[in-house]
Amino acid sequence: MFSARSLFQEIVDNDDSYRLFCSIAASGEAQGGWENGRIAALLPASQRELAPKVARHGADEDKHGRIFRALLRRRGLTPTDVPAATDYTMLLERQGIGLAHATLRRDQALTERDVITYLAHSRVTEQRAAEQMLLLQKHFGDHPEVGRAVRMICRDEENHLAYCHEELLRLARAGHGRTIQHLLQECASVGL
Ligand SMILES: [Fe+2]
Ligand SMILES: [Fe+2]
Repeated sequence: MFSARSLFQEIVDNDDSYRLFCSIAASGEAQGGWENGRIAALLPASQRELAPKVARHGADEDKHGRIFRALLRRRGLTPTDVPAATDYTMLLERQGIGLAHATLRRDQALTERDVITYLAHSRVTEQRAAEQMLLLQKHFGDHPEVGRAVRMICRDEENHLAYCHEELLRLARAGHGRTIQHLLQECASVGL
């Protein structure tokens, strides 16, 4: 019978699938690190107090990228190309979800709405990450090769989810409730 446990066991037991899995994860995490770093740098004056939290979020995602690359190295593997079909961020960007990379590459401050878009999008994607990591932790938290990495990333993803949630509540109290609701629905409509 299919189960998360047996699926992940197969991935860990097979060098090719482990290589692909860690490569996809490393690239997604590094992308998240870059995005958060840019957002921290481009926050509008009204949202500057968010900067340390967003920067911390970015640093965590960069660290996750390094952890997945270290898992590869430990097995004597090198990262492999990530298939376009698994480039989650690109797929979402094409559907107009989240902040476009072009916006983040510009040296121009974000708008308040951009910040809310980022937080709503992160609220959904971090929840997904936290749930996946919790599932992995349940089955592989004590695994000798991946357990430590899984536990650390799991804790971080839960923190990211909590902070995105808290910041959205703060913005909702500040009068942005409708925008937030609309953006969350948009994320849900593409099956995030
Ligand atoms: Fe992460
Ligand atoms: Fe995260």
